Amino acid sequence: MKSRRSFIQKISAGLAIPSLVSFNSPTRTTPKSISHSLQGEGYWDEVRKQFPLKENRVYLNNGTFGPSPQVVLDALQTCFVETNSSGEYGHIEPEREKLAAFVGIKTSEISLTHNTTEGINIMCWGLPLKSGDEVIITLHEHVGNALPWLNRAKLHGIVLKPFEPKTTQEENLELIKSLVTAKTKVIAIPHVTCTTGLVFPIKEISAFARSKGIFTAIDGAHGAGTFDLDLHDLGCDLYASSYHKWVLGPNGTGFLYVREGILEQVQAYQIGAYSDLGWNMYQNPPEFKGYVPTAHRFDYGSQSLPMMKGAVAATDFHTEIGREKIETRIRGLNQYLYDGLSEMKSMLVILSSPESESRISMVTFKPKGRDYQEVAGLISKEGFRIRQVPESKLDAIRISTHLYNRKEEIDNFLKSCQKVLG
Ligand SMILES: Cc1ncc(COP(=O)(O)O)c(C=O)c1O
Repeated sequence: MKSRRSFIQKISAGLAIPSLVSFNSPTRTTPKSISHSLQGEGYWDEVRKQFPLKENRVYLNNGTFGPSPQVVLDALQTCFVETNSSGEYGHIEPEREKLAAFVGIKTSEISLTHNTTEGINIMCWGLPLKSGDEVIITLHEHVGNALPWLNRAKLHGIVLKPFEPKTTQEENLELIKSLVTAKTKVIAIPHVTCTTGLVFPIKEISAFARSKGIFTAIDGAHGAGTFDLDLHDLGCDLYASSYHKWVLGPNGTGFLYVREGILEQVQAYQIGAYSDLGWNMYQNPPEFKGYVPTAHRFDYGSQSLPMMKGAVAATDFHTEIGREKIETRIRGLNQYLYDGLSEMKSMLVILSSPESESRISMVTFKPKGRDYQEVAGLISKEGFRIRQVPESKLDAIRISTHLYNRKEEIDNFLKSCQKVLG
């Protein structure tokens, strides 16, 4: 971030850091469009106004749930009203096409799910594995990636090989390479960990895995909507994500990418309407003509057009602002926060990587000599929505920032941290 001034300097110079009192205003009405001619913080203020997010609590937990901009809520409402007043529930094929294009894949490679965990279960159960096959996984998994693989290990005897991640991209690539044996069949790691927000070099890992005939099944919960994501370019085989975090779409919407070249190797254990090429119960024996030649085989039955319209409205919002611009903004806020916390090293330990490429949208820290839950409670009382990280024995605090956060909010957060920890 070019213009970050030292937070500590700002305080000592007595420069204006607005007090939290100013956050007590009610929800604003949102303007209809963003003025793209604006520059710098003025532009991002305009973006912020698109969100009905209340001002009485600074939201720093996008890693759990991303609040939607007004356009998404409008799209949901309009379509719910339309479908319920006409009785026509509609088809989601145009939405499927747009959602696939958003992450750089073919419409035939996307399966629409309800969340990341559903996509992970589909890929975990679908891959052709037998007892004794090894799966490389981290010790920093969210329960959504841990349990499906643990369940398959329990039921099918596959062997999980968990590792403690290192802090740089190069180290992590080398570490993963060193864990591979003749029995390794899958690398099932997150794009970004939920614990410290560590970014794995998925492109390099996927290229390596492909050269060894190993599947890459990526938990992309924090990948869609943060990176200017192009899954073909990333090169993994499978990628599960949701629209309700960084894409800022509705809760209950997600997707699974299945690379065209491996579609036939991924078994579809749950199927229904639209998964098939035809069936006939009157034949003897009854006939099932097989699966549709697309990843659509993994999702089935009635889909919610309003929810898909909401997801598409969220992706349109990103496209309108610009994907690259959003990634740059997210990285900038992350660095700004990281630098601010770095100035408090006597009070806390930053657990997130010092390497900027190994971070994107989250910073995790541990208070020194204090109980993290007590500190998290005090910070929360100061008016900040944050997340505790009990996972992976970290006992830490995670801060996530997205495009709607203002630098001023980060300054205020840092100021409160100083007050609580000082
Ligand atoms: C890394 C990671 N994987 C998976 C999940 C589960 O996502 P979902 O709730 O969409 O299933 C989360 C949720 O926070 C996560 O952080």
